[in-house]
Amino acid sequence: MADTATTETREAAMTDVQDTRVPTVVVDDVHIVYKVHGAGSGKGSATSALSRIISKKRSPAIREVHAVRGISFTSYRGEAVGLIGSNGSGKSTMLAAIAGLLPTERGAIYTNGQPSLLGVNAALMNDLTGDRNVILGCLAMGMSPAEVKTRYQDIVDFSGINEKGDFISLPMRTYSSGMAARLRFSIAAAKTHDVLLIDEALATGDQKFQRRSEDRIRELRKEAGTVFLVSHNNNSIRDTCERTIWIEKGELVMDGSTDDVMKEYEKFNH
Ligand SMILES: Nc1ncnc2c1ncn2[C@@H]1O[C@H](COP(=O)(O)OP(=O)(O)OP(=O)(O)O)[C@@H](O)[C@H]1O
Ligand SMILES: [Mg+2]
Repeated sequence: MADTATTETREAAMTDVQDTRVPTVVVDDVHIVYKVHGAGSGKGSATSALSRIISKKRSPAIREVHAVRGISFTSYRGEAVGLIGSNGSGKSTMLAAIAGLLPTERGAIYTNGQPSLLGVNAALMNDLTGDRNVILGCLAMGMSPAEVKTRYQDIVDFSGINEKGDFISLPMRTYSSGMAARLRFSIAAAKTHDVLLIDEALATGDQKFQRRSEDRIRELRKEAGTVFLVSHNNNSIRDTCERTIWIEKGELVMDGSTDDVMKEYEKFNH
């Protein structure tokens, strides 16, 4: 009897410590190295390019950029995580790696569910109309044609593209950068993502749209996904994320509550 009691207490104690959160992304000591070809001297000029073609000499000049240096963290379902750091610190690289678009040199990234990268460079087609892009984008995210039909109007309304006239039927290349970013965000946000990676999409929209997208990020979080948000706008990180990871020169500086990390980050920037 005494034995069962101990087992029970031990089990109770174990459930107490046990982490019930569901991990969505595990980044384990990740290193990412870009290999830049033709970075040697004089490679840029037309004559040097021509002489290289004629001599068929292979350029040995491959420069390496070690963009991410041993970063580790785990994110959980329902979390919105801010990623901050100076220009060139490795934030976009980190997101692209989580999305599976860049190989890791060392370390590994495990994801639970499909990560979707929503960036300033997300692939919409400039020569197609906004309207075509909405449909293609939704299909590409795995929606059925019927689902696209039902979501279509919501997406266009959310984007606000048609507030100033019938722009949705014009090619994307006629949009301002803010309008294009809004449409991109609206398409991506129409779906519940397991892991949504947002790279500064909010920075390009106007204030009204920023508010709306922050609300949508909060909704996406409730729908049990994980959201990563890269931004130089400290307020939109504060308003959307309760956890923030700060990266400098490819290394993790701090990972904690947004309030704590922001305090240190703002000190660093002064
Ligand atoms: N395609 C690439 N080829 C080579 N080097 C790259 C490439 N993309 C980024 N880098 C380098 O990797 C490092 C990290 O860049 P990254 O774009 O991840 O920074 P970031 O934190 O997103 O910066 P920003 O705030 O300016 O967007 C930088 O040194 C950059 O020069
Ligand atoms: Mg970037």
